[in-house]
Amino acid sequence: MVILSSILSLIVGRVSGIGANWGTQASHPLPPDIVVRLLKENGFQKVKLFDADYDTLRALGRSGIEVMVGIPNDMLSSLASSVKAAEKWVSKNVSTHISSNNVNIRYVAVGNEPFLETYNGTFLKTTYPALQNIQSALIKAGLSSQVKATVPLNADVYESASGVPSGGDFRADIHDLMVAIVKFLSDNGAPFTVNIYPFISLYSDPNFPVEYAFFDGNAQPIADTKATYYNMFDANYDTLVWALQKNGFGNLPIIVGEIGWPTDGDRNGNLEYARRFNQGFMSHISGGKGTPMRAGPIDAYLFSLIDEDSKSIDPGNFERHWGIFYYDGQPKYQLNLGTTSSQSLIPAQGVEYLEKKWCIMKSSAKLDNPQVAPTVSYACALGDCTSLGYGTSCGNLDAEGNISFAFNSYFQKNNQLDSACKFSNISTITKTNPTPAGGTCRFSIMIKPYYGGADRRLGSLQKLPGVAARLVLLLLLTVV
Ligand SMILES: *[C@@H]1O[C@H](CO)[C@@H](O)[C@H](O)[C@H]1NC(C)=O
Ligand SMILES: *[C@@H]1O[C@H](CO)[C@@H](O)[C@H](O)[C@H]1NC(C)=O
Ligand SMILES: *[C@@H]1O[C@H](CO)[C@@H](O)[C@H](O)[C@H]1NC(C)=O
Ligand SMILES: *[C@@H]1O[C@H](CO)[C@@H](O)[C@H](O)[C@H]1NC(C)=O
Repeated sequence: MVILSSILSLIVGRVSGIGANWGTQASHPLPPDIVVRLLKENGFQKVKLFDADYDTLRALGRSGIEVMVGIPNDMLSSLASSVKAAEKWVSKNVSTHISSNNVNIRYVAVGNEPFLETYNGTFLKTTYPALQNIQSALIKAGLSSQVKATVPLNADVYESASGVPSGGDFRADIHDLMVAIVKFLSDNGAPFTVNIYPFISLYSDPNFPVEYAFFDGNAQPIADTKATYYNMFDANYDTLVWALQKNGFGNLPIIVGEIGWPTDGDRNGNLEYARRFNQGFMSHISGGKGTPMRAGPIDAYLFSLIDEDSKSIDPGNFERHWGIFYYDGQPKYQLNLGTTSSQSLIPAQGVEYLEKKWCIMKSSAKLDNPQVAPTVSYACALGDCTSLGYGTSCGNLDAEGNISFAFNSYFQKNNQLDSACKFSNISTITKTNPTPAGGTCRFSIMIKPYYGGADRRLGSLQKLPGVAARLVLLLLLTVV
């Protein structure tokens, strides 16, 4: 089966299509089998992961979906210093899944944006050796023609002194390292993976021309030596093409590892802009004409599939709202991916919710109660208040609405436990939906927690360590 599918893929060539990033930094991730069905029904041919979770990979088995498995940055130093560790990683997280479960693993992402300037160089010494060790391990496992090792990098690894794409080159402080990595990727037939974010440009620079972030061609065009640019994506991608060319690797394949737009948490993060950006991007790449400097299909993974309510908000409150689907797999807006006969996204099937109840501020409680401020900060710190604030989906709530939103967020994240709605006698549980009529603000109900593959079948067992749970399951099955 594995051999057959490898032969088939050699004949057919690498699928392009559209991919999705599947991150799981959520308090209540959807069960992997539901997500795999969501991916398939929406016609995603590829998925990019940030680690190598066993249940996730198991659910992807026999789905045919191309998989990029990920190595988190905090594992880079151990993989850099030991070939044995890299061999173990490949054996456990790649070989086993391919051979015993027919997971279509095609890439290993070594680290995630390890050269971001905000990391202060923490991963500068370990990323390249880790890449080399993973590559050796793939060769040793006999997988190097099927599985390629790459490093997803932020577009901040290159820059243009002249401000136009033709001035593109790698960032001066990491120039030689980047050229060494690029040569290594080229020698091994692996692609360069880059994440491109017009939203972040708009977020961090109030003077950034809004129209240039989108694909409608309404921006003031930017003329370069060989082409004219009407949107930031093309210009940014071509800056990389120029940087590669300048250093002797003009034909290195490029994967856009992440591209997308958030829907909340910032005044420019909203449903309208996200739909406009993602639909514009899909139309822009459909037909496979490429960018001015690089003709041909663009290989890309949307960021992101599903919202993740536990992501760090250090970069900004928008971080938890990148999904084209909400936390529960419901589509956020009309998006035609062009991959199915449907004009819009297809929702997740079989999602189980908690009860229809919410935690809100008691009507008898007073706004000037001294307990309000500390309880709200507590609820927001452990819940999620990124939809409150200027220009966000719940930015128009009144003070009482704000407080209720914070309480409810904490309550839902804690599985609606009675004890999670006991805010110093100023909160109460209600069965009446407090979501304001009209508008974009939603008081959510959480989905049922997922405890891993074994638990779903064993029902009553609480979260067991994975191996133990599987062992118990095996015993039960054997006894039956
Ligand atoms: C396999 O990947 C998982 C998830 O990233 C990681 O926790 C584990 O340590 C890896 N296994 C080995 C043997 O490196
Ligand atoms: C990077 O350095 C800055 C300034 O010295 C510091 O505030 C920040 O916490 C550092 N970040 C990391 C990831 O080490
Ligand atoms: C609601 O909370 C947000 C975010 O904390 C704040 O900016 C806003 O002023 C609050 N609104 C009212 C009416 O208190
Ligand atoms: C809680 O509030 C109610 C009225 O809102 C009051 O009667 C009761 O004494 C309060 N309980 C505590 C423990 O403060």
